[in-house]
Amino acid sequence: METVTERRALREAVARALRAPSEHNAQPWRWVLGPDHLDLHVDPGRRLPFTDERGHGVLLGCGCALHHLRVALAVRGWDADVRHQPDERGGRPLARVRIHPSTREVDPRTRRHAAAIEHRRTDRRRFSARSVPTDVLEALDDAARPFDGVLHLAFGGDRAMVAEAMREAAERQRENVGYAAELQRWTHRYAGAGDGIPAGARLEGPPPSYRDLVLRWFPSGTLRQPRGTADHRDESALAILTAVDEHPVSVLRAGEALSAVLLEATVQGLGTTPITQVLEVPETRARLRNVVGAHRPPVVALRLGWPEPFSEPLPATPRRSLEQVLSEVD
Ligand SMILES: Cc1cc2nc3c(=O)[nH]c(=O)nc-3n(C[C@H](O)[C@H](O)[C@H](O)COP(=O)(O)O)c2cc1C
Repeated sequence: METVTERRALREAVARALRAPSEHNAQPWRWVLGPDHLDLHVDPGRRLPFTDERGHGVLLGCGCALHHLRVALAVRGWDADVRHQPDERGGRPLARVRIHPSTREVDPRTRRHAAAIEHRRTDRRRFSARSVPTDVLEALDDAARPFDGVLHLAFGGDRAMVAEAMREAAERQRENVGYAAELQRWTHRYAGAGDGIPAGARLEGPPPSYRDLVLRWFPSGTLRQPRGTADHRDESALAILTAVDEHPVSVLRAGEALSAVLLEATVQGLGTTPITQVLEVPETRARLRNVVGAHRPPVVALRLGWPEPFSEPLPATPRRSLEQVLSEVD
């Protein structure tokens, strides 16, 4: 892999992977394009050490970017050989990607996921009173499987336990001064920073609570609930994505699974809110482990629902430029 064409394909795919979601929209990734490969690194200045003490959020965000890259390459007819190798201490990249022209047709699911990259949004507004059918939730689980992700659907008693843990995690984190400072930093970015959670993605008023679910609190923004829905019951589903184990490679792959689930949900017309707050506090994380069964660790919770029919389209959150995230070496 040494041609100009391949380097250009990788550059274009990195440009599309900029749209990947990440905690606080910190975009904790850095790409290095070498002579015959592309490396994905963590950008250490974009970690959230108080919010995401274990660094799992960073790995999940980087995994999302890696999956977006895979989809962007696949839809242009490239096969990617991805080597995962998280070992940041040694300065090694999280993953190394090499590509070669594919001999297969681009499959329809890849086409749909590629188209969804530009439309996917984190939606924190009230979803509609229409529940999400099981076959749709199964399609999301199918999307996670190639990356060893499994979705645990939380209904009834499971949901009540997760909701209670989410409430407690929100309270605990609010008492943490370092957490508050990180929240402040990533919700009050300077103009043109190209990152963080802008006012337009944050709900106006107090923290939203839908039925039993309390979402992460952000400083009040300008996003409004869909008109005339104050007394509507939000019938969104709650799912927990689980990984093989907590090895950094497994969490990175779970990030790829998360991206696949979010893109598939977007294709299906669902709105999504990824939620890691409940997994960032040791006590509430332990409770989620009990809910999903101890053999597969939970890595991210997902709120999945149908947007209210007259919801305004959500504006895209900002991203840094290609030049800011990609460096090239010969
Ligand atoms: C690993 C991860 C954890 C996240 N945790 C939360 C969360 O707890 N609460 C929340 O409202 N959004 C959460 N988000 C959503 C991000 O804030 C969102 O992806 C980012 O602001 C970019 O916006 P976009 O998804 O609309 O592109 C999370 C996203 C990722 C990838």
